[in-house]
Amino acid sequence: MGSFIIEGIGNLEGIVEIGGSKNSALPILASTVIVGKEYIIENIPDIEDVRMMLEILSSMGCKTQYENGIALIDTTELNTYSVPENLVKKIRSSIILMGAVLCRTGNVEIAFPGGCEIGLRPIDLHLKGLRKLGVEIHEKNGILCGSVKESLGCEIQLDYPSVGATENIMLFAVGASGKTIIYNAAKEPEIVDLQNFLNKCGFMVSGAGTGTIIIEGKKIEDNELIEYKIISDRIEAGTYLSAAASMKSKIYIKNIEKEHFKSITSLYEDAGCEIRETHGTVVVSSRGRLKALEKVTTQPYPGFPTDMQAQFMASMATADGNTIIEETVFDSRYKHVPELQKMGADITTIGRVAIINGVSRLHGAEVDSKDLRGGASLVIAAIGAEGTTKINNIYHINRGYEKFMEKLRNLGVIITTIVE
Ligand code: UD1
Repeated sequence: MGSFIIEGIGNLEGIVEIGGSKNSALPILASTVIVGKEYIIENIPDIEDVRMMLEILSSMGCKTQYENGIALIDTTELNTYSVPENLVKKIRSSIILMGAVLCRTGNVEIAFPGGCEIGLRPIDLHLKGLRKLGVEIHEKNGILCGSVKESLGCEIQLDYPSVGATENIMLFAVGASGKTIIYNAAKEPEIVDLQNFLNKCGFMVSGAGTGTIIIEGKKIEDNELIEYKIISDRIEAGTYLSAAASMKSKIYIKNIEKEHFKSITSLYEDAGCEIRETHGTVVVSSRGRLKALEKVTTQPYPGFPTDMQAQFMASMATADGNTIIEETVFDSRYKHVPELQKMGADITTIGRVAIINGVSRLHGAEVDSKDLRGGASLVIAAIGAEGTTKINNIYHINRGYEKFMEKLRNLGVIITTIVE
């Protein structure tokens, strides 16, 4: 699976350029199957999850090419409504194909998805929304089979602003007759990006970024070639910010949408890190040890993102004082805690609450990456730690961070990969 070997250096300096958003790229790539056309999509991050999504599209008859952050896709010859089970199991966001494939073909067969093991990740809200839109769904040997004869737009009230459910409903509802309104929709910037992409394809979607999304359910234009550039990855940017904030550093983060980044930067500013913007570049300066923050709770956007919880915990592991984190989005997202403890972190968890008693420095150890963001937190801890750290199972990290080793080296990190 491969490991990173990182020498603790305790300081960072340099420039890092942020890639395209993973959580925008995946649903946007999935949504290309809705209409058989050619697409040129820019700023697609070079990560395992993207390659997996492109492989799924190819295996279903679509033509795909990917180079230098640009994906060329032709979905005209989509030849099946059955999404390959072995690939679906590797990438959770493949469930988004359910709405998109149903929209195009009226049928779908897709396995329950895989992806990060971060607690129960049910898809009941996806299924409830699609059923309300007229899709008949049953399960046969672990495969979800969906079919629809006629779909009429309707009003859907989500019990929770699930990102995936909002996206799946949007991707199906664009093909329904009449208007669909999603209440309590997710407000993440990636939902706005998906709306902008769908509108570029000729659909009429509005309201994304608020809790109410309106999908008109009819097409207004018919471009042959769709060109689109996706937003940059706020979580990737937040990860480099976390690393820099936790130790003596000055780094320049380029290519980010600062608005999307606010709920992350404000916490690090409260903890004593200096963050400013010059000519569109975010400059992060830290004198070293952060101040602990009393309590931080993960929330759907615009709150502090669950996808930053592990990296933030790594920063607070060496802060001055005690910090309490409450993880409200996922029920089992503390798999990095025992690994941080191996490096000397003083962390106690009680259910969804973690109490972090900052120590002055962590030390190197052999640790296991259990999921994507938890793995990133170990990298942050390792850079600041005394001695050498070996992080196993870096497959999880490579799923979501493009050119991670190269970008870290540009910031002065001493990192190598070993393949086992
Ligand atoms: C997306 C992101 C992921 C991020 C998460 C929350 C992508 C590819 N992934 O995941 O990085 O951590 O948003 O910001 O965009 N839930 C249900 N029933 C459902 C759907 C969700 O109970 O049908 C629950 C989940 O178990 C979880 C919570 O809702 O506890 C949030 O899930 P959701 O917003 O759907 O996250 P994902 O779309 O899976």
